[in-house]
Amino acid sequence: MPTLRLGDTAPDFNAETTIGPVNFYEWAGSSWVILFSHPADFTPVCTTELGVASKLKPEFDKRNVKMIALSVDPINQHKEWINDINETQQTEVNFPLIADQERKVSELYDMIHPNASETFTVRSVFIIGPDRKIKLMITYPASTGRNFNELLRVIDSLQLTSSYSVATPANWNFGEDCIIVPSVSDEVARDMFPEGFNTIKPYLRITSQPDFTLNE
Ligand code: BEZ
Repeated sequence: MPTLRLGDTAPDFNAETTIGPVNFYEWAGSSWVILFSHPADFTPVCTTELGVASKLKPEFDKRNVKMIALSVDPINQHKEWINDINETQQTEVNFPLIADQERKVSELYDMIHPNASETFTVRSVFIIGPDRKIKLMITYPASTGRNFNELLRVIDSLQLTSSYSVATPANWNFGEDCIIVPSVSDEVARDMFPEGFNTIKPYLRITSQPDFTLNE
């Protein structure tokens, strides 16, 4: 199985999910996708993660992002656990969970790291663009819950930088200043960024965030 890397095409699959059988590409349509695995149902950190992700769905919707979660637990357990998440996290789980008992998707996406656990998926995150290319991969240990605000922040950066010749600096948040990519000359930058830019070094040029609105 070849390792998946940034820029690779995200593999398609068919899976059993809490919303019924899903073909990944058909389900994804023209949306961005966050595909994320968790170690197991009925575990405390995962319970909080799925709760937080559900509460943030309106923010993901604004960005045309669909979420889909995965573990190797069976569908009946997923459904039972969703009741617990809804009860304890004051939310309604509002995205599908893949029941990957046969580990088909986990293996396709290399979500089982045997030196961490032979049986459970680690906390993998894949952000996949509407072009089906993998834009981000991160892996967290079982003991550390993910920061879903960080995923929103990365989505904002990915969507902005796919439309404009900018990159986003460390700790950037939506609305803050951006970096002009080095491949753009000063001459072109003057036309491209009429509000101007500040040259700190020839390779470090700062401009205000291009006009970029989220869907309301
Ligand atoms: C959790 O989600 O709480 C968890 C899962 C596996 C190992 C440790 C914690």
